[in-house]
Amino acid sequence: MILVIGATGFVGRHLSVGLLERAIPVRALVRDQARARALLPAAVELSVGDMTEPPTLDAALRDVRAVYVTVQTITRAQHGKARDFAEAELRGLEEVVAACRRAGVRRVIAVGLIGTRPDAANAWVRARARGERLLFGSGLDVTVIRPGVVVGRGSVGFDGVLAAARRRVAPIRGSGRQLWRPIGIDDLIAYLVGVLDQPAAYGRAFDVGTDEVVSYDSLVDATADVLGRAHPRKVHVPLRALRPLARVLEIVGRLPAGGLRAGLDHLGDDLVGDPRPIRALLPRPLLPLRAAVERSI
Ligand SMILES: NC(=O)c1ccc[n+]([C@@H]2O[C@H](COP(=O)([O-])OP(=O)(O)OC[C@H]3O[C@@H](n4cnc5c(N)ncnc54)[C@H](OP(=O)(O)O)[C@@H]3O)[C@@H](O)[C@H]2O)c1
Repeated sequence: MILVIGATGFVGRHLSVGLLERAIPVRALVRDQARARALLPAAVELSVGDMTEPPTLDAALRDVRAVYVTVQTITRAQHGKARDFAEAELRGLEEVVAACRRAGVRRVIAVGLIGTRPDAANAWVRARARGERLLFGSGLDVTVIRPGVVVGRGSVGFDGVLAAARRRVAPIRGSGRQLWRPIGIDDLIAYLVGVLDQPAAYGRAFDVGTDEVVSYDSLVDATADVLGRAHPRKVHVPLRALRPLARVLEIVGRLPAGGLRAGLDHLGDDLVGDPRPIRALLPRPLLPLRAAVERSI
């Protein structure tokens, strides 16, 4: 049995289906059972809980041999008392590690952010670096898979691209010159499943993506091409002009402080990384950008 924490999210849903398709039984730790039942295949066993609540983790980890963590706190309300999104994420990871130790589960695979570095300008990326340090220092057999923009419907980053590609005049957050390395959701899932029983992946973080590093504006235009639409006229909105709005949305949506602002700023970052190490470990042809977009519309 494999536990997925974050199975009701974009990556977690695809991962759960991907594991089932490979005849690997899946249990999901979910916060809202009815919502999860509507989102996930009937074959996914549900265990109600929260990554910050140890007893629920203990129940979910029974008879489990590996855990996937596909969680983010910037887009989802948190019940705990964390000061901000970074603390919420870190506390959740600490509880997952502690629960794995109690349950004797050694294998943990987490999804991160491409190019994560402790000295990154962006607060979300720095928080992820702290999370990686915690995971790799846990003594467990940890792998982190780090995508940039994941091409698939329901992916927060790509949904923004799709929305812009459908307009005649598109507001673009940031300069539009930021470079993004895409990966199709199916390839991301193949890597996540591919590392499951790969001891050579223990203790390592891998950037993933195709060779097609494109500017945000070109990504919008390439998506418009696939949709058969004219390239939109782009109006570039400085990120600093949007920060107050992000704060308001955090308050209205009861989201952890700072998360949407950091997520918004991250949209203006280069998301490039270095995908060569994962390719050496798990060689596979990756779906080109155009084909990945075609699959997503
Ligand atoms: N989507 C992308 O393009 C992309 C790109 C790069 C990296 N990533 C990374 O991939 C991972 C998954 O992203 P995503 O797009 O799938 O996110 P998502 O759609 O926002 O889903 C987040 C998931 O986290 C769960 N969650 C949040 N707080 C939780 C808690 N306290 N306890 C248990 N579950 C909790 C949510 O559950 P509820 O449904 O109950 O809220 C949901 O299932 C993240 O690490 C993200 O940074 C994603």
